[in-house]
Amino acid sequence: MTQSLILTVNRQLHRMAVAPETPLLYVLRNDLGLNGPKYGCGLGECGACTVLVDGLAARACVLPVAAVVDHEVTTLEGLATGEGLDPVQVAFIEEQAAQCGYCLNGMIMSVRALLNRYPHPSKESIRAVLEHNLCRCGTHVEILEAAYRAAG
Ligand code: FES
Repeated sequence: MTQSLILTVNRQLHRMAVAPETPLLYVLRNDLGLNGPKYGCGLGECGACTVLVDGLAARACVLPVAAVVDHEVTTLEGLATGEGLDPVQVAFIEEQAAQCGYCLNGMIMSVRALLNRYPHPSKESIRAVLEHNLCRCGTHVEILEAAYRAAG
């Protein structure tokens, strides 16, 4: 049964009529047209759907939309501000870290979440975070270089 929920996504309020158990990923992509977060496994395993909830990484494919009411959701589209792209996005562009690009949403959002908590993480910390995000092209070297660059 649908309920009226108010979501905060990318600094905007949205009143939604939606079943509360609907995965957040479906609402973001299908109702709000935000295609940054990707559907990969749908099981919380691959990281393609990663978004930020109050600045922390969350897997939107397994997160019921009702769980983010009263929380701030940020998608890849919301990282950029009026001042330009997020430094993590810039680093991924400069390192040419995309091959097919499908995993990049999760890689970028996971690095952003890490930097929100630890502005200058060690390389080991970065690798530990990103080992939970899958890349099927094998672009791991460029992705890690981008993450190291973003971490300064
Ligand atoms: Fe959500 Fe794979 S699609 S973790």
